[in-house]
Amino acid sequence: SAAEKGGFDWFMRKEIYEQPKAVADTLLGRHDENGRLTLDEVRISEEELRRIDKIIIIACGTASYAGLVAKYAIEHWTRIPCEVELASEFRYRDPIVGPTTLVVAISQSGETADTLMAIRHAREQHARVLAVCNTNGATIPRESDAVIYTHAGPEISVASTKGFTTQIVACYLLGLYLAQVRGTKFGDEIAALMGELATMPDAIARVLEGMDPVLKLAADFAEERVVLFLGRHVGYPVALEGALKLKELAYIHAEGFAAGELKHGPIALIEDGLPVFVVIPPRGRDMLHDKVLSNLQEVRARGARTVVLAEADDHEVLPYADVLVPLPQVSTLLQPLVATVPLQMFACELATLKGHDVDQPRNLAKSVTVE
Ligand code: G6P
Repeated sequence: SAAEKGGFDWFMRKEIYEQPKAVADTLLGRHDENGRLTLDEVRISEEELRRIDKIIIIACGTASYAGLVAKYAIEHWTRIPCEVELASEFRYRDPIVGPTTLVVAISQSGETADTLMAIRHAREQHARVLAVCNTNGATIPRESDAVIYTHAGPEISVASTKGFTTQIVACYLLGLYLAQVRGTKFGDEIAALMGELATMPDAIARVLEGMDPVLKLAADFAEERVVLFLGRHVGYPVALEGALKLKELAYIHAEGFAAGELKHGPIALIEDGLPVFVVIPPRGRDMLHDKVLSNLQEVRARGARTVVLAEADDHEVLPYADVLVPLPQVSTLLQPLVATVPLQMFACELATLKGHDVDQPRNLAKSVTVE
């Protein structure tokens, strides 16, 4: 009913708007009385965590893109090699896993069969398993050595939204926790990063206040048959997620590409009028921003219709943006938390305009309990 949906037309739209609170709740109560970071249930000793020499993140669908974002942050903060693998691929390839491997299973429902079978396989090889999950007492956290719960509240819509953003937050917490235990970051650095994380609910709320151009864009693009998404660094998983949302909800053929890989193939797809979303990283000391800016120029020069997600005052992108979706200023690693939101909204709105059931897309299930 409309009441259950809080006055929104779809659970998905309601859940998109719940993200500031979901992220805030996921960050709540993560310190002990000495200011040290604590997690929900960590039944792995600090000694064992110091011996970990490899992390493998396993997940499916949207959760696997949260895992890709996590890899960047975890490797940067902890210097532990971290790979991301689709759960359905993991156990069928004889993966190298042992007692010093930390397997991180990300699953909103905690019941996805592919992910469950993967962690069972990992445990047989004596790996330590940590679950990032939104569902208290679900099978995956029950069968894990440790859990970080994303306190997003129930997610009803099949397509994950607040599940995704809170998974990213939980993985940042994991990365900072490991950095604390292993001493790769000092207490004050961790406190500074936690301070920036604490500003994210407001940043997401600001993005949600500026959705009008995105709604208009959905109306303009309702007849499109192909849409591309480009991003680099943590913007790459954002591009993948933007494309997945369009496939799932609007049944549009959409692809996400690493912007730097464009020249190695996908640029051949660009033709006059093709819609291309480009996620522009924050301007910083590294070259990242300028590299993606030049990728934007390349597609624009070949006739693409560009939708550019960039910091609100990033004037350099303006000449190449048919539409600008402004983002608040945040650091590079945290940008997925704000950049994903307009893409969720775009897919939700476009699917609504096409008359699709946004909460129950065809052929999909919220939690897939068969392999
Ligand atoms: C299903 C859903 C996706 C979701 C995936 C993983 O395929 O349709 O939206 O991302 O499962 O779900 P999980 O509960 O493991 O995060």
